[in-house]
Amino acid sequence: MTTRFDQSPSADGLWTGLRGLDGQPCAITVADGRIVWTGAPDAVPAAHVSLPRHEGGGALVTPGLVDCHTHLVYGGQRANEFAMRLAGASYEEVAKAGGGIVSSVRATREASEDSLFASASARLQSLLAEGVCAIEIKSGYGLSLEHERKQLRVARRLGEAHGVTVRTTFLGAHALPPEYAGRSQDYIDLVCREMLPALHAEGLVDAVDVFCERIAFTLAETEQVFQAAQALGIPVKLHAEQLSDMGGAALAARYGALSCDHIEHLSQAGIDAMAAAGTVAVLLPGAYYTLRDTQLPPIAALRAAGVPMAVSTDHNPGTSPALSLLLMANMACTLFRLTVPEAIAGITTHAARALGLQDTHGTLVAGRPANFVLWKLQDAAELAYWFGQRPVRCVVRQGRIAEGAL
Ligand code: NIG
Ligand code: FE
Repeated sequence: MTTRFDQSPSADGLWTGLRGLDGQPCAITVADGRIVWTGAPDAVPAAHVSLPRHEGGGALVTPGLVDCHTHLVYGGQRANEFAMRLAGASYEEVAKAGGGIVSSVRATREASEDSLFASASARLQSLLAEGVCAIEIKSGYGLSLEHERKQLRVARRLGEAHGVTVRTTFLGAHALPPEYAGRSQDYIDLVCREMLPALHAEGLVDAVDVFCERIAFTLAETEQVFQAAQALGIPVKLHAEQLSDMGGAALAARYGALSCDHIEHLSQAGIDAMAAAGTVAVLLPGAYYTLRDTQLPPIAALRAAGVPMAVSTDHNPGTSPALSLLLMANMACTLFRLTVPEAIAGITTHAARALGLQDTHGTLVAGRPANFVLWKLQDAAELAYWFGQRPVRCVVRQGRIAEGAL
């Protein structure tokens, strides 16, 4: 398939005139699509001096951004629920009235694979144009083998077509499908015994997630899904303590979870368990903002415990129709009081770790695939300062100048 990405120019050569996040001048050499050297401009290896030059003109350079929690593939949209909430209904009331996740399930089941690909492609392009080089995409709007497969296949196709690293997460335990009303255990059995093994065998599952919440699945059901994932050697993560403290984070930490996400109601015991397990805390200010939540995630305690904090869009049609990771960094600072360096680490280094990609993404290190962004900015703090604009000069993704130009 011919795509715009395939036609974009190679980034091989010597990149000079750059400034790192520390404000210091730096240079990068790219060969065969990988970073082979990075350092001070006066230390460029002699063998690299004659390579083709890409002159950055003093541009700020960062690692490619990583969006580590999205529900990017779905049918329809839910602006009507936005209106219901404005009229006073809560997220839980909307869900109980037949809206919420289940209404996106209806629209996703009705949509063809190609139409899901087209709508998700358009959304993905917004994120890519802002510097995203790796993204997690969850299923969870199919809730049957056929339709979860369709979502995950679209996620894989998006990665190939757009030249972006996609990590797929199976979120079969997102909500109880209507045909299983009152039969939660039967559905969890289906998830564990049929859906997960089949989708894993098809190479569609990089991680497994559960929505552990009083409007979704219990702690015991969550553990059953984790056991099924563990038996297949698949890493887990969790939608934990978003609306209440279910003890999900501590459970997830016991299973060595990559991340616990949302965590507004996280307890100190949960924080301690995450710190001990090396589990990343994924902060989702877009959902907090959309739901007009008032319970702040325990940032100071996470910081004190040394839990790495990532920041993500949580793009989804219900609670976070956000398509800007920089806006999420801004909100993480403004709403959650992250420092700017924390917010930047949250959309790069720590986000990569939340996906198990810490050895290939999220930092500028020789030997890694060339994924980096040149910004039309003077100061690193501007990354989290502006909102509503796209200050990208160019994006090098998978070794190509995929967005913008020098
Ligand atoms: O991350 N919390 C559960 N899942 C999504 C919401 C999905 C939806 O409402 O469609 C989230 O916020
Ligand atoms: Fe989510």
